[in-house]
Amino acid sequence: MTPASFDFTPLLAPNQPVPAAKWSGFPKYNFIGGHNDAAHVPVDKLIAAATSVLKREGASLATYGLASGPLGYRPLREFLVGKLKGHAGITCAADDILITSGSLQGLDLVNNILLSPGDTILIEQETYGGALTRLARLGVKMVGVPLDDEGLRVDALEAALKDLQQRGVRPKYLYTIPTVQNPTGAIMGPQRRAEILKLAQAYGVPIFEDECYSDLIWDGKRPPAFYAMAQGSGVIHVGSFSKSIAPALRVGYIVAGWDVLSRILALKQDAGSGALEQMVLAEFCTAHFASHVPALTRGLRVKLDTLMEALAEQFGTAAEFEEPQGGIFLWVKLPDQVDTLKLSQAALAAGVALNPGPEWSTDKAYGKSRLRLCFANPAPETIRQGVAVLADICRREFGVPARIANVERPGAARQL
Ligand SMILES: Cc1ncc(COP(=O)(O)O)c(C=O)c1O
Repeated sequence: MTPASFDFTPLLAPNQPVPAAKWSGFPKYNFIGGHNDAAHVPVDKLIAAATSVLKREGASLATYGLASGPLGYRPLREFLVGKLKGHAGITCAADDILITSGSLQGLDLVNNILLSPGDTILIEQETYGGALTRLARLGVKMVGVPLDDEGLRVDALEAALKDLQQRGVRPKYLYTIPTVQNPTGAIMGPQRRAEILKLAQAYGVPIFEDECYSDLIWDGKRPPAFYAMAQGSGVIHVGSFSKSIAPALRVGYIVAGWDVLSRILALKQDAGSGALEQMVLAEFCTAHFASHVPALTRGLRVKLDTLMEALAEQFGTAAEFEEPQGGIFLWVKLPDQVDTLKLSQAALAAGVALNPGPEWSTDKAYGKSRLRLCFANPAPETIRQGVAVLADICRREFGVPARIANVERPGAARQL
């Protein structure tokens, strides 16, 4: 029997997702995913870090978990203790941190200890598509809370909490990306955080805080994390090295109390996340993280300006957006008649990949004419060409933008 003739279909466990398509390479104009800027991967310093750490400690690869135990390579956790204190105001110990295989594994682990089908969670109305697909697959009810230019709206959150309480529903958590929100790029201010924390505590709802973009802020300044404000009580914090160093390394982390981490560790039966990545990162970050991140964000800022200028040139007033405060995404609103799910298909056929708004929103109608563009990976010239191709396709499919190269003041942020 050849392998191809055997039919696995009747044997599959129920509730499988749609099968994956075979990878056929990156599109020419790649505005999707959370890819990083290739020019800012610190290759030479990573080589030096790998050499020095392997020479010194390479023999420890002989044991699962090195000599650090199941929470992950201790020098990396110790680096994070200092970084989280200095940057996010978090006071924690190395043993409050679990290294994961990317923060996506962190999301899965947190979901696995807390969620069952039929549970309810609160989530930002515009949010990370990877979180939405996970929650949908778990059969969880998502209550989307609208945002403004500072993130979660307090009045809307309070209304949602009240409504759920009246119906006898206690949400399992509030998932938020407060520091450089995905997709909007907003940073929640300290007063807003205090009000949201107060509400969450009053209603007994934990906050699940995803901070994977919080290193990428144009002016480097940020308010304390929820985890810091609550002194760890009722907050689970996840972060990542994907956006600050490189996503292919697959290194993220969870910060939580032992009550939570002990449950998560009992589920994380993978014998530890990749050790070499953790060793190289610890070696690199201890010496160079502080100087690497500002150089990376300066480069990202240049690309954002290129993208905003290209949109202004090609789409004129048809493309509306608020200038993000950091990160790698621009969240764009096109005229109402544009259906970005259809646009994304037509664009992909021409080599332009974009994330359609309905996949990044709990409210599909709200997301219909919105789209997310990741500007970190393509070179500036590719950004300009890709936006020009996209404008042509959008005009052909939906009649907007009406005119070619409708130039207006470049880089201006406009109201949504
Ligand atoms: C909000 C958010 N959380 C988590 C992730 C997953 O990141 P990683 O698993 O690479 O750490 C992403 C990736 O884009 C993201 O946007």
